[in-house]
Amino acid sequence: MKANNITWHEGKVTKDQRQKLNKHLSATLWFTGLSGSGKSTISVELEKKLHELGVRTYRLDGDNVRHGLNHDLGFSDEDRLENIRRIGEVSRLFVDAGVLTLTAFISPFRKDRDQVRSLFAEGEFIEIHVKASIEACEARDPKGLYKQARKGQIKDFTGIHSPYEEPYTAEIILDTEKNSVDESVDQIISYLKKNHYLS
Ligand code: PPS
Repeated sequence: MKANNITWHEGKVTKDQRQKLNKHLSATLWFTGLSGSGKSTISVELEKKLHELGVRTYRLDGDNVRHGLNHDLGFSDEDRLENIRRIGEVSRLFVDAGVLTLTAFISPFRKDRDQVRSLFAEGEFIEIHVKASIEACEARDPKGLYKQARKGQIKDFTGIHSPYEEPYTAEIILDTEKNSVDESVDQIISYLKKNHYLS
């Protein structure tokens, strides 16, 4: 429930000023895709490359955030909504801080992602669909989770008992069945340069 009697305090340093100091724009790169599609792998490599280019970054990853901030949440539709809502708010703070923010969450529901998009100004939310078929993800099964889900040992598993809604509005689509991790990273860097996020 929203508290009463709270007031917004304007600071004396703006997002624009922070971005100028950093010499690049800030935005959220919102990776979405099935478990095993490559969200974490690509975002880790992308962050390394951006850091080498002198870009201020921060990466928020589903598994990691669920160890701390969101340790109270499971995988029901309601908990996923709350997970994504909190990450949306956190990534908005990072963008306000002038940071290029990478988020890697399954974020399976279109309306939840659109709700996060609505928090941002035009161009500050870049949806990246990390695309691989359920068959490919299940064949990769890097953490053995699909196998456990098929045996009924994990409930509400995305792609098996819980839906994944592909984006209609993704700014970038990465085909991880065709392209290597390096090619996907290059595709994102090209997008960022072409659209003047980086100089
Ligand atoms: S969500 O849907 O956005 O709230 O999920 P997210 O916070 O990204 O967490 C996904 C990671 O949690 C592990 N895991 C599960 N995923 C999906 N469904 C179920 N039931 C589940 N249980 C545990 C899994 O490691 C996911 O990580 P990735 O990197 O996507 O494989």
